[in-house]
Amino acid sequence: MRDHIKRLLGWPLRRALDPRVDMTVHEIDARLGSQGLVRPTIHDRLDDLDRTGRDMLAGLGWRDGPAPGSELAQLDAPRAAFLNWATGPDGYASQAGHWFNPPVPVHHAAGSVEVLLVNERIVEQPFVFAALAGLPDGARILDVGGAESTVGLSLATLGHRVTVVDPRAHPLRHPNLEHAACRLDALPDPAQPFHAAVTLSAVEHFGLEHYGLAARDERLDLAALARLRELVAPGGLLVLTVPFGQPPSVDDFQRVYDEAGLSELLRGWEVQRSLRAGRIDRLTWQLGAPSCERHGVALVCARRP
Ligand SMILES: C[S@@+](CC[C@H](N)C(=O)[O-])C[C@H]1O[C@@H](n2cnc3c(N)ncnc32)[C@H](O)[C@@H]1O
Repeated sequence: MRDHIKRLLGWPLRRALDPRVDMTVHEIDARLGSQGLVRPTIHDRLDDLDRTGRDMLAGLGWRDGPAPGSELAQLDAPRAAFLNWATGPDGYASQAGHWFNPPVPVHHAAGSVEVLLVNERIVEQPFVFAALAGLPDGARILDVGGAESTVGLSLATLGHRVTVVDPRAHPLRHPNLEHAACRLDALPDPAQPFHAAVTLSAVEHFGLEHYGLAARDERLDLAALARLRELVAPGGLLVLTVPFGQPPSVDDFQRVYDEAGLSELLRGWEVQRSLRAGRIDRLTWQLGAPSCERHGVALVCARRP
């Protein structure tokens, strides 16, 4: 019976009814001016504290919310929506410049977490690493537009000397990693040319409005590839990935290139490997020309003649 009452009362009464704390309870009650009551005063005080805490949390909009460490089944829809926003490209981490576009973002819903989609980084990142695998240790690599990416840090960790050029903040640090916080066209000539340049899903945005830069009439994507021919040593590598599809297009966000557009972009470079990859469905990418929807990328490895 006593056990049943304990269970019904729950915490904190449950602990206070434990005979081992009886003496302490009576001691505290005596100090509070009451003695020998069936329900010790300390219990009321603890209940008051509990209620005050809950009311404060309710005032903040978190009544009965799941606490850190709670079961997934307790995740409700409003909190799921909050998590999706907070961990996405507009969330707090992103606003602080600490968001690294994940190849497999997840989606929270009430009581569940699922894969949202698989994006093009799933094929772009390994293509870049494979293309650079033959470089000598300590090669000088320029990562163009690498702010929201861990690729530059990986290359630096592998022992290469990496310069990330991007006007946006780049919070990652490594002794082999340098951040030039400017547009590519403002990057001064380096003391020595680079062994390789990487432009992973970057030049298609150049000169357009996105990423807080003013739109420009010039084709900054073409200018970028021409400038890279000056920055990379003769015989040096270019690894480029861009959106690819039919028909080609341009909007405020990005350009999508077709074969002719890609050739124009790569003029003056000696193409060594040129692949296409397309999204078959939300979770699957495959090598081969993408379908007429715009879910495709071109993956190119070229050399400066
Ligand atoms: C799609 S994000 C890059 C993605 C990244 N490379 C990755 O691996 O996920 C495009 C980047 O290009 C940068 N950017 C835009 N115009 C630029 C310019 N003229 N020079 C250098 N970076 C530029 C933007 O700030 C943005 O960080």
